[in-house]
Amino acid sequence: MNNIESKLKIVEQGWKKLKKLNTIPLDLKRVALINSKNLEYLSDAANVESLMLDLGLNDEGLEEFPESLHQYCGQGLRIWQYPIQFSKYLVDLGKLKIDSYLEIGIRHGGTFVATVEYLQKFSPLKYAIGIDIIPCQSLLEYKQIQQNIDFVQINTQSQEYQQWLEKYEKFDLVLIDSFHEEIQCRNEFMSVKDKANIVAFHDIANIKYPGVRKIWEEVKNTNEYDCREYIDQYLGIDLSYMGIGIAVRKERL
Ligand SMILES: C[S@@+](CC[C@H](N)C(=O)[O-])C[C@H]1O[C@@H](n2cnc3c(N)ncnc32)[C@H](O)[C@@H]1O
Repeated sequence: MNNIESKLKIVEQGWKKLKKLNTIPLDLKRVALINSKNLEYLSDAANVESLMLDLGLNDEGLEEFPESLHQYCGQGLRIWQYPIQFSKYLVDLGKLKIDSYLEIGIRHGGTFVATVEYLQKFSPLKYAIGIDIIPCQSLLEYKQIQQNIDFVQINTQSQEYQQWLEKYEKFDLVLIDSFHEEIQCRNEFMSVKDKANIVAFHDIANIKYPGVRKIWEEVKNTNEYDCREYIDQYLGIDLSYMGIGIAVRKERL
């Protein structure tokens, strides 16, 4: 098997595994925790980091989380992020006054909900869309609360996705956080490159996903973007995990 064939095999196996996955319902009542905070509070990364614990973290891949955070995992919004990274990312996004958002790969939907709620405190969102290959009941419920959001169940590697994307001229922010393999990550970036002012990548520092790191380095080297990284790690975790990179089109700054 040559290199390309073996990479495609990995992608195929990944999709088969995904089809067996289920999402776990979110406790959407916790969005009130964000709404109750004022802009001064939400502009401070330390506050947002502690708020994320109350919002609740995901418990898949628990070995990537320090033991001190385990008590917050498996509940609430099940956000699949490191608070130490995501808090700083959100604070910077708040300053950029984002007006539309696409999240590619939402899993249980927690990061999507937290991002939408946070961004809307700083600037109104015209629309926000979460997409995933697997269903997400919680986002359908969330749509009852936030009418400017949508969930679309679609495979980003399909022709149908390309046709769906044609409906949108522009996304202010796109977060790519789906199957962390080089070919798919590059396809997803290319699919939104000309529509997105800001592209964020998850897992740029994750030891398990060198393909994402590779794409991130390529994006930085285009020199078309102002790039920032949120890759702080927790003490007591030996390997490097997660990590968010944002690439802001220079003309958007
Ligand atoms: C790491 S999870 C997303 C985590 C989420 N962004 C968060 O922070 O909570 C990756 C998601 O990508 C989705 N995914 C993987 N390949 C996909 C594809 N080809 N099209 C759409 N979604 C895909 C998976 O079903 C999974 O729910």
